[in-house]
Amino acid sequence: MKKQYDFRKMSFYQIWIRSFCDGNGDGIGDLYGVYDKLEYIKKLGVDGIWFSPIYPSPNADYGYDISDYKNIHPDYGTLEQFKKVLDRAHELGLKVLLDLVINHTSDEHPWFIESCKGGKDNPYSDYYIWREPRFKGEEKLPPNNWYSQFEGIAWEYNEQREQYYLHVFAKKQPDLNMDNPKVREEVKSIMRFWLDMGVDGFREDVINFISKNSDMPDGWSFVPAINGLPFYKDGPNLHKYLEEFRQVAREYGAVQIGEAPFTSVKTALTYIGGRKRVLDMLIQFDTMFADCFMTEYIYHGFRLRKLKSAFRRWQYGLQGKAWFALYLENHDHPRVVSRYGNLRWWKESGSMLAACYILQRGTPFLYQGQELGMTNIALNSIDKYIDVAAKNAYNTFFLKDSVERRLERIHVSTRDSARTPVQWTDGKNAGFTTGKPWFYVNPNYSFINAEAEDRDPHSILNFYRRCLALRKHSRTLLFGTYREYFPQSSKIFMYERKYTDKANGLEERILVVCSFDAHDRSYRMPRGYNYKKGRLILDNYISEEEMKAGKTAQPCALKPYEVQVWKFRKKL
Ligand code: GLC
Ligand code: CA
Repeated sequence: MKKQYDFRKMSFYQIWIRSFCDGNGDGIGDLYGVYDKLEYIKKLGVDGIWFSPIYPSPNADYGYDISDYKNIHPDYGTLEQFKKVLDRAHELGLKVLLDLVINHTSDEHPWFIESCKGGKDNPYSDYYIWREPRFKGEEKLPPNNWYSQFEGIAWEYNEQREQYYLHVFAKKQPDLNMDNPKVREEVKSIMRFWLDMGVDGFREDVINFISKNSDMPDGWSFVPAINGLPFYKDGPNLHKYLEEFRQVAREYGAVQIGEAPFTSVKTALTYIGGRKRVLDMLIQFDTMFADCFMTEYIYHGFRLRKLKSAFRRWQYGLQGKAWFALYLENHDHPRVVSRYGNLRWWKESGSMLAACYILQRGTPFLYQGQELGMTNIALNSIDKYIDVAAKNAYNTFFLKDSVERRLERIHVSTRDSARTPVQWTDGKNAGFTTGKPWFYVNPNYSFINAEAEDRDPHSILNFYRRCLALRKHSRTLLFGTYREYFPQSSKIFMYERKYTDKANGLEERILVVCSFDAHDRSYRMPRGYNYKKGRLILDNYISEEEMKAGKTAQPCALKPYEVQVWKFRKKL
């Protein structure tokens, strides 16, 4: 057993490699590009990188359909190049986490190809979830009425084996049968392969889906895409399996972050609570639903109160009990400044959003381009979008709308907005590639790009750097308690972090006040706060230089999308 590093003090940067940076000019992001940008990542002030899948994959779901777990996709480089990136990252003091996708493989994985042959003596027969058809007269029907999240019915008939296989996501993503001990041995062997190479842990994809209720009863949801969910989410053997994988992680001191869609705080605590936890942190989905209902496809516009209640639920629910991951963006959601911010106040809202989550209790994750305030893309035809989920929504849920309306709905909901090339410069192809970019570059790269923002002391990029640095060096922000004020306000989000240093007889409180309003606004400080005793330590209208020179903000008044962070100290 190896001692674990303290992930609570860290923050992580997520790379979705295909759109990160192209190092060899073929138009596709790769590990050569990543190598060149490691200093940039370090300079942001994060402590590690999480790579979305970089393994060989037919890309039906851009990497989340894996055809070889122990290799690198040729588009992205080689194992050798990965090792170079890993070593250099370690030299810079950055941890490296990989995505472990074990709920399903690609249908082009050799295990699945073998499994389709079936047969008693075939060791791969039971690697996947196969069921006999139901018959209605002569007509073959799927084993139950479950829906997949990406592509219609969750069952696909296989002519060769004359059975149906389960796919909770796309057809090309057959679900593994985790009840088969051989499959779990494969998972452990994959973990060991990368841990032996020096990787520091995993982000575990849809980890709460890996154990299914083997009776497989019919579902009843009125939202088709989640019909069946209760029977494949948080299944009967999930803890047992996670415990097995945990043993491997513990041998290496590796950190495990589980992605757990549709999980409640109560259930989450069974995974991440206490010393016997089976995961270190959890990625919940509640904070992604402040402008939509359960999925971005059911969009209703941003409501701050919904966002605050999601923050509140998780902060209060886990406080003193468990640690978790903070995020506002990843490769599965549209860009946050387009969603929860305001493009007319792009810089202000983009930077305010940084402080609004990074200074909460937990380990912050940033997604590539988020630190630049990258925005959603609008394409003029569904054929230009690439995401299987967007195409499915367009052709099913949105079917009744006009073409314009359907495209508008895709624009506010699609994951593709997170998958446009990162905007590095205002040069050709935003400096992403010297070749032809594999996907559309957002035309706003002329002013939203890393180079320009690096120079601008008021930029979103520089504000992210300041937030991360502030958090890193503050015990109060790392370990202080969390308390929210004025929960009813629909324009202001205010929270306090408090740390009592008994040994030195000191109490420190940090008050974070975020405006979600496009107009000036006044606010009150909570009872017990005397603004005259506070010191402003961060503000998105005041650059670092200006702050050092003594510039301060007007207390109790906020400009549009301003965030003020005040510090109060008192002797006990
Ligand atoms: C997770 C991934 C997402 C993927 C899905 C199926 O939610 O983050 O990108 O499509 O799992 O693997
Ligand atoms: Ca390339």
